[in-house]
Amino acid sequence: MFQQTLVLIKPDGLKKSLTGNILTRLSETKLEIAAAKVVRVSRKLAEKHYAHLKDKPFFDGLVKYILGELHERRKVLAMVYHGEDAIKKVKELAGATNPEEAEPTSIRGAYGRITTGGVYENVIHASANEKEAEREIKMWFKPDEVIYHIYPAKEVVKNNIQELEWA
Ligand code: PPS
Repeated sequence: MFQQTLVLIKPDGLKKSLTGNILTRLSETKLEIAAAKVVRVSRKLAEKHYAHLKDKPFFDGLVKYILGELHERRKVLAMVYHGEDAIKKVKELAGATNPEEAEPTSIRGAYGRITTGGVYENVIHASANEKEAEREIKMWFKPDEVIYHIYPAKEVVKNNIQELEWA
């Protein structure tokens, strides 16, 4: 089944100059990049992305991490990968969420760590399932920024300019 999945290279990945390595690993999936941009993450976006975890003890650390406050790198590389079984393929390559439990050859196993504060610095985020992928892609990207549309979008006119909005 054709799917899309959100991939974020987190601030530690950018600080450690791992972008090239991670993109090379992701190219093993033979999936297509359907969208990509460098994002200065706002607190609102960070808290919305991780909203289901707001009661967890690591929530504050997690938000600080994705904002770049732990690495003095206030940016994230956000991408949408597109293709057959995209969610499973990227999840497998990313490895387990806990970098200590991840296969050593997976991206998180190779490059991740757990901070002394208990936050998983696992270098990349990858959507967990179809529902999350749709929620996350619509949160991080506008339809005009995504090359292929698997979620419906509609045309709207704002200030006399025609643009697309997620339907
Ligand atoms: S859950 O509850 O495990 O299903 O949540 P999940 O959707 O997998 O997301 C967990 C995200 O929180 C990050 N994180 C941690 N998880 C568990 N324990 C600790 N200590 C922790 N610290 C951070 C974890 O990396 C997941 O974020 P992403 O961006 O998906 O890696």
